[in-house]
Amino acid sequence: MKPIEVDKLTKTFRGKRGRRIEALKELSLGVADGEVLGFLGPNGAGKSTTIKTLVGQIRPTSGKAMLFGELAGSTEARKRIGYLPENPAFYDFLTAREYLDLVGQTFGMDSAAICRESDRVLEIMALTEAAERSIRGYSKGMVQRLGLAQTLLHDPDLYILDEPMSGLDPVGRALVRDLILDLKLRGKTVFFSTHVIADVEAVCDRVAIIAQGELRAENAVSDIIAEGIEGYRVRLEQPPPPELQEYLDGELAVKTGDLYVPRHHFNAFMQQVDQAGCAIHLIEPRRKSLEDFFLKTIS
Ligand SMILES: Nc1ncnc2c1ncn2[C@@H]1O[C@H](COP(=O)(O)OP(=O)(O)OP(=O)(O)O)[C@@H](O)[C@H]1O
Ligand SMILES: [Mg+2]
Repeated sequence: MKPIEVDKLTKTFRGKRGRRIEALKELSLGVADGEVLGFLGPNGAGKSTTIKTLVGQIRPTSGKAMLFGELAGSTEARKRIGYLPENPAFYDFLTAREYLDLVGQTFGMDSAAICRESDRVLEIMALTEAAERSIRGYSKGMVQRLGLAQTLLHDPDLYILDEPMSGLDPVGRALVRDLILDLKLRGKTVFFSTHVIADVEAVCDRVAIIAQGELRAENAVSDIIAEGIEGYRVRLEQPPPPELQEYLDGELAVKTGDLYVPRHHFNAFMQQVDQAGCAIHLIEPRRKSLEDFFLKTIS
């Protein structure tokens, strides 16, 4: 059974004066065992709506989502996931340890296991020092890290994380990247939404791109990156002669003299360079990035 199977999920909200907001339109998506899938999309695309449906916080208008073959939102399905909501909020009069205690109890863990696992997850999320302080005094990043800590407590097989890196400083972001890679090494499945393309590049096997409630693309990250070299940035030893100025790389290049040569022009370009008696100072391949792919996909 696949950890996540989404089949033609549709969600229509009723807005003000009965206005219909189609947050999801027949979205279908699968996540395989042991896979890390990044869920990318602009603000308002429907990422959180998808995630809330997966964890049973909202009901779809039509279509369905299954987790390990169980209907999303059912008790069986909920037990098997670690869920980080978009803006985690806690009873802030509790300490982190007391909060984790509560989480452990809802998952039916005994007190020895809760104690042991709390130590483990507080350590992973660098919260050991703050564990006995009430959450009220936590910074935004600490609250986010506690949110992540509680997803790990019962060591589930599937992690559904809504913007896990949000609100974190570079150290915290690196911590979460390492955490996701570590979960992957342990054979866990991770589905997370994000706006940060570099994070997708760093940890994901695949990326799914959503815009206006529709799935726009689903690709292996390695395929996108390996799509290859689009062209070359070239700098000559001297300012480019008139016959090479058609290759000037944008307006700024008039000053720098940087040239951009599309891949299929490269041989012809090199002949021209030779004929003009120019010398090359630098050649650098320019690859299609995940960012280009994302922007093209959502436009
Ligand atoms: N409870 C609700 N009532 C009415 N409309 C809603 C509700 N929740 C979400 N929406 C609408 O559904 C659409 C998708 O919202 P969603 O929160 O899923 O986007 P998102 O991709 O998570 O965006 P962001 O990147 O900003 O978090 C938006 O147009 C939003 O206004
Ligand atoms: Mg969201």
